[in-house]
Amino acid sequence: MARILITSALPYINGIKHLGNLVGSQLPADLYARYCRGRGHEVMFICATDEHGTPAELAAAKAGIPVADYCAQLHKVQADIADGFRLSFDHFGRSSSPQNHELTQHFAARLADNNLIEEVSDKQVYSKTDKRFLPDRYIEGTCPNCGYEQARGDQCDECTKPLSPVDLIEPYSTISGSKDLEVRETKHLFLRQSRMVDQLDEWICSKSDWSILTTSIAKKWLDDGDGLRDRGITRDLDWGVPVPEMPGKVFYVWFDAPIEYIGATAEWAQTQGLDDAAWQRWWRTDKGADDVRYVQFMGKDNVPFHTLSFPVTIMGSNEPWKLVDYIKSFNYLNYDGGQFSTSRGRGVFMDQALSILPSDYWRWWLLSHAPENSDSEFTWENFQASVNKDLADVLGNFASRVTKFCRAKFGEVVPEGGEYGADEKALIETLTKRIKAYGEHMDAMEIRKSAAELRAIWVAGNEYLQTAAPWSKFKTDPAAAAAIIRLSLNLIRLYAVLSAPFIPDAAKALQDAMKCADTSWPDDVQAALNTLPAGHEFTVPEVTFAKISDAQREEWQQQFSGKRD
Ligand code: 2FM
Ligand code: ZN
Repeated sequence: MARILITSALPYINGIKHLGNLVGSQLPADLYARYCRGRGHEVMFICATDEHGTPAELAAAKAGIPVADYCAQLHKVQADIADGFRLSFDHFGRSSSPQNHELTQHFAARLADNNLIEEVSDKQVYSKTDKRFLPDRYIEGTCPNCGYEQARGDQCDECTKPLSPVDLIEPYSTISGSKDLEVRETKHLFLRQSRMVDQLDEWICSKSDWSILTTSIAKKWLDDGDGLRDRGITRDLDWGVPVPEMPGKVFYVWFDAPIEYIGATAEWAQTQGLDDAAWQRWWRTDKGADDVRYVQFMGKDNVPFHTLSFPVTIMGSNEPWKLVDYIKSFNYLNYDGGQFSTSRGRGVFMDQALSILPSDYWRWWLLSHAPENSDSEFTWENFQASVNKDLADVLGNFASRVTKFCRAKFGEVVPEGGEYGADEKALIETLTKRIKAYGEHMDAMEIRKSAAELRAIWVAGNEYLQTAAPWSKFKTDPAAAAAIIRLSLNLIRLYAVLSAPFIPDAAKALQDAMKCADTSWPDDVQAALNTLPAGHEFTVPEVTFAKISDAQREEWQQQFSGKRD
């Protein structure tokens, strides 16, 4: 039994995430966590809301409530939706927790001890009306290069010239529109990342098993020299982790967010009534974490922060914290001919998805079309076809035909009857090969390949049933029909076990219908197909999957074509 620590990138607190966000980190992380648990490993699966930074403050101001209240409310909303998608976190924490405050300050202090932090005086734009320093992208004005009137403080969108806010003519705050701005001198802490380039380079080069997507992004930033330029890790804001001895300043959100992976594990220990040793055995190699395998899931935009910035924090502390072993990163999911967009409200958002269909439908489509090797696209036609074919016609239909036939001919018990013959042996051989391949793909986190193999396993059962045709055998050889049905009922239980990481609710419904609590992995297929003995009772499962009609598809296509309100 291995010990596996799994983290999913932390969703920003402000607002509900769309399906593209979901498939880029939380959902595949859940798939892997469920699979690892199913194989008997000890798993710690962690996620949290990423609560600091200017966007959270502005969203709270827009809602007219204090930012702490806003975050508490939105955390609850996100936690409920995560439950709705059956995301099986061991803990869904909050980066604003006391544990994260303490750890973030701890890491900053260790980095300072190791001479990796320096105080730098910087010039920044202050808005007297907003009573705050403005991050570059919250300042707009006229571009000195092309005259475009809405150039942002970091770049002109019209002529693409990179800008600094002080370059803008007639700058104004995009928060209030105020032009009452001034440049003020302010002190900040800088992390001297440039000192760690060699160490980082060596570490990344040692990760020969990482995907091309992950390493190419990491290497690009490292080689450009841009990724490890010294960077400011503090901001002039109220909301965040306070910087000790620098009143009015907090740590930059990207400094404290990944530390919350650790913080959330400490939160978990507290909610379980456990002591520090309980979370430290996942994170401190001097306290038991040396045999932990740590896997992170994230979208490709998060890769630089997890391959460079966070490792700098960990390594620079010079303390024995656990570094990531494997990063599973994703491309983007597009929506019906364009991009999903939170700011433009484009696409299907997690709460909307659950309001029209159960989570398994979404989980199956999203995972079987995960944007692993390239971007992928959600279309309603593809979604309908995949749900109707894979879930309803193949898996659902198998379970329903077998159980209903058995009920009609033998009652709701596994029938006595003949031995398994040549067809059954051939099926067992096929399944043995396929289940092995399925396990290998899941171990490697090859999500699309795993889904394809699982689908092939469902199809093999259907083809067997079609060929074995118990409904016609029943007339001439009821014992042979009984053997086919006995095997098929066992196959339903086996499908429940194998499918649980992808479609946990349906898997549970099938498992419950088979009235069997045994969810052990079918390493021995022959034995697994004899788990339910003759005479064992079952019930016909409630409808597992309903087909999506053309009318429904068209209605949803229409409903989700515009902007979310
Ligand atoms: O990109 C994002 O959505 C960030 N909130 C991810 C943070 S991941 C981790 F570092 F906390
Ligand atoms: Zn311009």
